[in-house]
Amino acid sequence: MASNEPRSTTQAGIPAVSDRNSLTVGANGPIVLHDHHLAETLQHFNRMNVPERRPHAKGSGAFGEFETTEDISRYTKAALFQPGVKTETLMRFSTVAGELGSPDTWRDVRGFSMKFYTTEGNFDLVGNNTPVFFLRDPMKFPHFIRSQKRLPDSGLRDGTMQWDFWTQNPESAHQVTYIMGQRGLPKTWREMNGYGSHTYMWVNAAGEKFWVKYHFLNQQSDKFETMSGDQAQALAGSDAEFHRRDLFDAIKAGNFPKWDLYVQIMPYEEAKTYRYNPFDLTKVWSKKDYPRIKVGTLTLNRNPENFFAQIEQAAFSPGNMVPGMGMSPDKMLLGRNFAYADAQRYRIGTNFQQLPVNKPKCPVHSYNFEGNMTFDHTGDRCVYAPNSFEDSWSDETGPVDNSFESDGELVREAYTLREDDGDFVQPGILVREVMDDAQRAELVNTVTGALDGVIEPVLSNAIDYWKNIDADTGAKIEAIVRAK
Ligand code: HEM
Repeated sequence: MASNEPRSTTQAGIPAVSDRNSLTVGANGPIVLHDHHLAETLQHFNRMNVPERRPHAKGSGAFGEFETTEDISRYTKAALFQPGVKTETLMRFSTVAGELGSPDTWRDVRGFSMKFYTTEGNFDLVGNNTPVFFLRDPMKFPHFIRSQKRLPDSGLRDGTMQWDFWTQNPESAHQVTYIMGQRGLPKTWREMNGYGSHTYMWVNAAGEKFWVKYHFLNQQSDKFETMSGDQAQALAGSDAEFHRRDLFDAIKAGNFPKWDLYVQIMPYEEAKTYRYNPFDLTKVWSKKDYPRIKVGTLTLNRNPENFFAQIEQAAFSPGNMVPGMGMSPDKMLLGRNFAYADAQRYRIGTNFQQLPVNKPKCPVHSYNFEGNMTFDHTGDRCVYAPNSFEDSWSDETGPVDNSFESDGELVREAYTLREDDGDFVQPGILVREVMDDAQRAELVNTVTGALDGVIEPVLSNAIDYWKNIDADTGAKIEAIVRAK
């Protein structure tokens, strides 16, 4: 372009001279170190990457709105869940084990993360497309993720390692049955259902407490649409970004995906005697015992303008809860309360909550200051509390409204098991009562394929694991695997 007008600037805002030619001694001579624009361009490029999420590295998302359409104020006083309230949201979908460039259609659980920018601060619900999880103690989580990622020597993923971890930890059976079934290969993110998975607490304005599980049912299809193993494998090679593209294109075309939020509510006292431990993340609550109650509708209607700034730097944490809700004695949830913000301080930086995508839409008046990349400074505000200078601070004392009781010595022990708490009870129900004949046949096909190359003793352990889930399914798996 023949013009003397500067078309770009350096990061200091100084007109940049050329984005095409470095400064050299004559056209064919060496470049010179005082080409500041070249130096800055190379230096910034070296720093473009931030560490990827570990786990859930590969994903994408969009913005939208959640509207509470029903009156559920008898269960929670949370401002966002009062009738008619509309709340801006951010949503991110992901795979768990794959890295940043991995295909969207590898068999896996899918992440289902939401940020609600409420008037009382950000509420994050960081769930999955399955209602349960592989584990019930956070101590096991890093071991689990390492076993699903890569071998230390070859850097390859490895079926033996994956099945060894699962069979050594039989509480994984319910979630493994889900991902070896239809939910492991969703057709699109738009056609998935999502779950908070854990049991959370809700508190109403009168201070009454309830246990709650969140279910997001998609409006795009009647059932949970999936793809076949062959389709997924072909797409992994031909269009690794299939799910990301589908969501972006749908929203761009004005085809806004919607999910209805339902909750299961358990009266506080019933948790003590329910036949399953209601805080065990490997179990669901029967819908016959606790039917779904509608809350409202989530619509995604705005694509990110900048993937890095708004999706890669988005930070979701199960610890972000607003008044009217709280944690439960679920050990996994309590562990996650620590893990996420810590990961984000490492992955994004100390002040990640000041970035526009993470910043609350309500005033922030925190007593945490400074640190790398402080952007929203606090002027000459008092830096300590209590203080004598009318700078407000918080001082609630006594019982908290979202509390739960617990007592006893400090011990290292698994949960005590209840009447129906066997690890293979609910996965057996899933295989026998939820799946139909075609789905059971596909399950056998998927598991035998996934056991290819798995070595002893893990192979025999995996066959026993499936026999424990369902004798007939296990026998079919054994016959095929042993004939290979
Ligand atoms: C003790 C158990 C767990 C630990 C320690 C853990 C830890 C983590 C960490 C460190 C990240 C990366 C966060 C980031 O860099 O921004 C992550 C991401 C994620 N985890 Fe977990 N996790 C656990 C269990 C779960 C469970 C039970 C679920 C679902 C019910 C879940 C769903 C997700 C999702 C959806 C993401 C991606 C968040 C996003 O979209 O940015 N995790 N997890």
